[in-house]
Amino acid sequence: MRTQVAIIGAGPAGLMLSHLLHLRGIDSVVVDVRTREEIEATIKAGVLEQSTVDLLQQTGVGERLGREGAPHDRINFAFGGELRQVDMAELTGGRRVTVYAQHEVLKDLIARRLADGGDLRFGISGTTVADVDTDRPTVDFTEHGRRVRVECDVVVGCDGSRTSTRFLIPEGSVRTDYFRQYPFAWFGILAEAPPTAEGLVYARSERGFALISTRSPQVQRLYFQCDPATSADDWSDDRIWSELQARVTEAGISVPTGRIFQKDVLHFRSFVCEPMQYGRLFLAGDAAHTVPPTGAKGLNLAMADVYVLDRALGARFADHDSRLLESYTETALARVWRAQHFSWWMTSMLHRFSDVTDFDRRRQTAELEMVVSSPSASRMLAENYAGLPLEPVG
Ligand code: DHB
Repeated sequence: MRTQVAIIGAGPAGLMLSHLLHLRGIDSVVVDVRTREEIEATIKAGVLEQSTVDLLQQTGVGERLGREGAPHDRINFAFGGELRQVDMAELTGGRRVTVYAQHEVLKDLIARRLADGGDLRFGISGTTVADVDTDRPTVDFTEHGRRVRVECDVVVGCDGSRTSTRFLIPEGSVRTDYFRQYPFAWFGILAEAPPTAEGLVYARSERGFALISTRSPQVQRLYFQCDPATSADDWSDDRIWSELQARVTEAGISVPTGRIFQKDVLHFRSFVCEPMQYGRLFLAGDAAHTVPPTGAKGLNLAMADVYVLDRALGARFADHDSRLLESYTETALARVWRAQHFSWWMTSMLHRFSDVTDFDRRRQTAELEMVVSSPSASRMLAENYAGLPLEPVG
């Protein structure tokens, strides 16, 4: 078969890109090794930046988000025995975040692509991408036991942090990977329980970081910093609730408990691949960069990448103008590195490092105090947390 854009991966980047391209009349096929059910059931973060919400709504996939998503105007920080607020909406002229789980965004995008006649191939295997350094790249895969060949103009690697498309960019001569590891992980739960507080709570305590988030009035999402070697099975429900409570007690917070129906351990990594393109191959989302979860930038960065890429592909296909495509990496990376800094900074300001000294504790407290009390520091946090506009970030 022949298409204009072959998209590897039906996550936020791949699905949103095929939706945006469709709106401008560009054909694509999206392939994924996972089934639709697996994709729609994978639990990830749930915080959408203002520009992600706007993009979904302006392109006609934000209807359920508008009804079921919960906008948050404030962020809470628990430290030094108190709960303090940053009024994000006020500091940013009305920009806020909306809590709406990533897999709900994916359900909405899949439903819309299928309703629009989109070509989505789930549960495929044996994907081989070839000839991205020519003007006739191909993607081969097995579907229902048959080999399928797709000839296309452009391949977009949206295959997440376990990407194979990234490795098509020759390492060393062309590609450089930038990594940072962290000596901790997050233990995450979903529980049937009432909300703890109005708004998300980022808590720094002697026992380590904790984050109280939400999904709905009935379902809460909570996380606490843990040893990366921890297995979810090592933690009974009682132990989880008492650990979470212990990390917020000194700030006067009491966490309502309930049935825990999902436990996972999230590993931390900062990663950027440069460049994000090679010949007719372009990378978007986690395939090109991963952020630690603090600040929930992953899906938002994926959306920002494909916003840039869609416009660039539009100029290329409609007007034979390749300039925006040529500068894709440069445009996307400006925002990516900004988010890398923000996610690293939030992480280091709130977590307990194993070699922590009294000096570090006091410095961390001073930093948090500045963030909640200095209007310019609060605004810096609020702008980055609510997310920068989608115009190229300079
Ligand atoms: C959530 C995840 C995050 O990483 C974060 O910073 C805030 C909220 C969440 O899953 O709700």
